Amino acid sequence: ETVIMVEQILSEFRLKKEQLKEVMKRMMREMDRGLRVETHQEASVKMLPTYVCSTPEGSEVGDFLALDLGGTNFRVMLVKVGEDEERGWKVETKHQMYSISEDAMTGTAEMLFDYIAECISDFLNRQHIKHKKLPLGFTFSFPVRHENIDKGILLNWTKGFKASGAEGNNVVGLLRDAIKRRGDFEMDVVAMVNDTVATMISCYYEDRSCEVGMIVGTGCNACYMEEMRTVELVEGEEGRMCVNTEWGAFGANGELEEFRLEYDRVVDETSLNPGQQLYEKLISGKYMGELVRLVLLKLVNEELLFNGEASDLLKTRGSFETRYNYNCQHYYNIYNILSTLGVLPSELDCDIVRLACESVSTRAAHMCGAGLAGVINRMRERRSLAVLKITVGIDGSVYKLHPCFQDRFHKVVRELTPHCDITFIQSEEGSGRGAALISAVACKMAACML
Ligand code: BG6
Ligand code: GLC
Repeated sequence: ETVIMVEQILSEFRLKKEQLKEVMKRMMREMDRGLRVETHQEASVKMLPTYVCSTPEGSEVGDFLALDLGGTNFRVMLVKVGEDEERGWKVETKHQMYSISEDAMTGTAEMLFDYIAECISDFLNRQHIKHKKLPLGFTFSFPVRHENIDKGILLNWTKGFKASGAEGNNVVGLLRDAIKRRGDFEMDVVAMVNDTVATMISCYYEDRSCEVGMIVGTGCNACYMEEMRTVELVEGEEGRMCVNTEWGAFGANGELEEFRLEYDRVVDETSLNPGQQLYEKLISGKYMGELVRLVLLKLVNEELLFNGEASDLLKTRGSFETRYNYNCQHYYNIYNILSTLGVLPSELDCDIVRLACESVSTRAAHMCGAGLAGVINRMRERRSLAVLKITVGIDGSVYKLHPCFQDRFHKVVRELTPHCDITFIQSEEGSGRGAALISAVACKMAACML
């Protein structure tokens, strides 16, 4: 009987195909509005031009520095771009991870960028290349309104970053200023890209059909190659330009209201950016664990779990980490997780916790699948193709580490995209390689302009 009542509560997370289609349609409508000059301002999905274009200019070879800010880890990388007879490219990297403290994330922009410059300095010392002035590619995984490949303002922070004095400012400028303030090394910042874009580019060099990049990690977002003539915010008609959808913000115009549950509302209200990134909050790793925790508390309150009593830890915000979801398959793992949280569960309790995890992560996979199906169907329509053959490059901890996310996600995407032949590939070291490769192209273009 308990299980029946639990399932009733969890059934709210289940989405029917019709509902997913509706999400997809609304996503497509919002994408369209985001691209048009007249409706861009009010559209929830911003469809930001990236100035990464389909007309390859060739590229430089040599050493590049790459930064990756905005995922779980901050990374500095040294990337060697060379020529390779078979694939056209050969890329090798050395990298170093640095942790970003909560203080740095929520202090001032100056503090954050000073810390970034300090990490670069440390990396250059370790690699004994402090004296070299290298071209640098910056993967900056937040919504940026670009003016060019190496210039763009941060529209708003997402994913728990909140450093003051950055929003509305040119991010590359903030980085250059911090490097200047230190004064112990020089860098030539040549390109800034979103992580979805870096992921797409890195996969493109393995598979020329890769025209979509997606992240399901701390945050959730996608980019794709759009026909230049439909990118109304940028002049020009020829070829294609990569558009960073920033679809995480979908829902700001009420598009998701009937799908958002009480748990989603709590997650949103207690976040650093209430009312924003509502779609992302249903899906990404930053929020998945907390959603499960709230569901567990609900079940405890209904006396369906842990004899109606939650531990203090379980009552604490953030205590159920998203990575616990990745281990919620086996009784033994669930038992261990719950013990760390100060509960001694029965076998039935463990089963219920498994169901709760599954409900939250399945909904995430389905919601996210509806979004990607929207992007892919749009591409097929725009290109008037009977069959669209496309490759999607993907990265992010939820996609890579959750044991069932991928399968559920792939299934929904394919169900919602008839007449499309989709290949999914995981990007490895995507941001480093992607940022370096686009920098190599940017350098070539700059050289051509001289
Ligand atoms: C990494 C990419 O592998 O994945 C980053 O290099 C990206 O650029 C990240 O932001 C996303 O995943 P997560 O889980 O770290 O947020
Ligand atoms: C957030 C950011 C977006 C990024 C995504 C994945 O949604 O706003 O720019 O691509 O997270 O990291």
